[in-house]
Amino acid sequence: RQTGLTFYDPGFVNTAATRSAITYIDGDAGILRYRGYDIADLAKNSTYLEVAWLLIYGELPTPAELAEFDEKIRRHTLLHEDLKQFFSALPHTAHPMSMLSAAVSALSTYYEDSLDPHDPEAVEISTIRLLAKLPVIAAYAHKKAIGQAFMFPDNSLSFVENFLKLNFGTFAEPYEVNPVLVQALDRLLILHEDHEQNASTSTVRLVGSTEANIFASISAGIHALSGPLHGGANEAVLNMLGDIRGSGESVQKFIERVKNKERGVKLMGFGHRVYKNFDPRARVVKESADEVLKDLGVSDPLLDIARELEQAALADDYFVERKLYPNIDFYTGVIYKAMGFPTRMFTVLFAIGRLPGWIAQWREANTDPGTKIGRPQQVYTGPPARPWPTSR
Ligand code: CMC
Repeated sequence: RQTGLTFYDPGFVNTAATRSAITYIDGDAGILRYRGYDIADLAKNSTYLEVAWLLIYGELPTPAELAEFDEKIRRHTLLHEDLKQFFSALPHTAHPMSMLSAAVSALSTYYEDSLDPHDPEAVEISTIRLLAKLPVIAAYAHKKAIGQAFMFPDNSLSFVENFLKLNFGTFAEPYEVNPVLVQALDRLLILHEDHEQNASTSTVRLVGSTEANIFASISAGIHALSGPLHGGANEAVLNMLGDIRGSGESVQKFIERVKNKERGVKLMGFGHRVYKNFDPRARVVKESADEVLKDLGVSDPLLDIARELEQAALADDYFVERKLYPNIDFYTGVIYKAMGFPTRMFTVLFAIGRLPGWIAQWREANTDPGTKIGRPQQVYTGPPARPWPTSR
């Protein structure tokens, strides 16, 4: 313990707690790469599962590897019937992120055979179970909130098609998969798949460093993601756009409230710890927002407010001086809304996107001989040693 070397670094702005070969970010240049591949190339040419394989195993899969991975995941989509009952014990008003985290935590009680972090086969099967079951849990949280019956997974469909059917299908009529939605959602999920040592991924690594099981680690990561400064920002953006109520003067009034640092008022979906010029994910999302709304024939006044807000902020010294730009969460909510997801599901979609990254990072830490139990230092600010008051 080298206490002499401790220095105060709130928010770990300068401290690397790990080494990693998964994701590269250059915040000044707006570069994001997974295993060396540019995020825009992956978003354009790849699929969620292909990128998941890349993140977890280090290389793009061959067609045979991808087909086998896809098949394994399809075979593990079912939830234990008892776990389905778990949702009945929760109020329908529960936030879907809380349901998601609780259900992932509960997975560890069903799969006690695969909890040992030192057993590569256990880690492998847990990886498949998580990737297969998280979207089903997410869709059940959605169905629970809107009071509809849970759909069974349909393994004749692709990963994203199945997820859409689980969310929007009913037993009343056949579900028609819309290819526009499938492509757009696949792309959004890819953009979220990893982002090096953000708060939720660091949480996953920290919990994992105690040799807690992978379900416990991911469940903790979901909680970390739920905060409005992290993944919860996508939900907060839509609420903010709704609260602004109209364009023009209301947008300007809102900007003034942000600049005056009114308690609890921030321009949600703006700013990033790492990106100080632009967020490369936000660029792709902004293009998608235009395309998807056009393809779906949806015109949403909130998109106009978002555009106006972005323009006003980018032209304002307050935001320019602080290098605040739209991040990935600024436009995603408008797209999710157009797809039909309720606002409270937005961060759940982020979690499904981020899952492969959490798994890859957990596995990397789990096999890195340099990993030690996470245990930050502190700078003590309390009283010095003092004698016990004998008069007591
Ligand atoms: N609106 C208004 N002011 C802001 C904002 C914002 N969105 N973000 C930062 N600032 C100000 C902040 O008040 C500070 O001002 P000053 O220097 O006068 O005190 C300055 O900019 C620097 O901000 P910071 O809080 O030191 O920056 P950070 O790196 O610690 O925080 C952040 C990064 C993302 C938490 C922050 O920008 C923020 O709260 N943004 C809004 C929430 C959001 O959109 N989060 C999603 C992030 S992207 C998705 C993900 O990966 O999670």
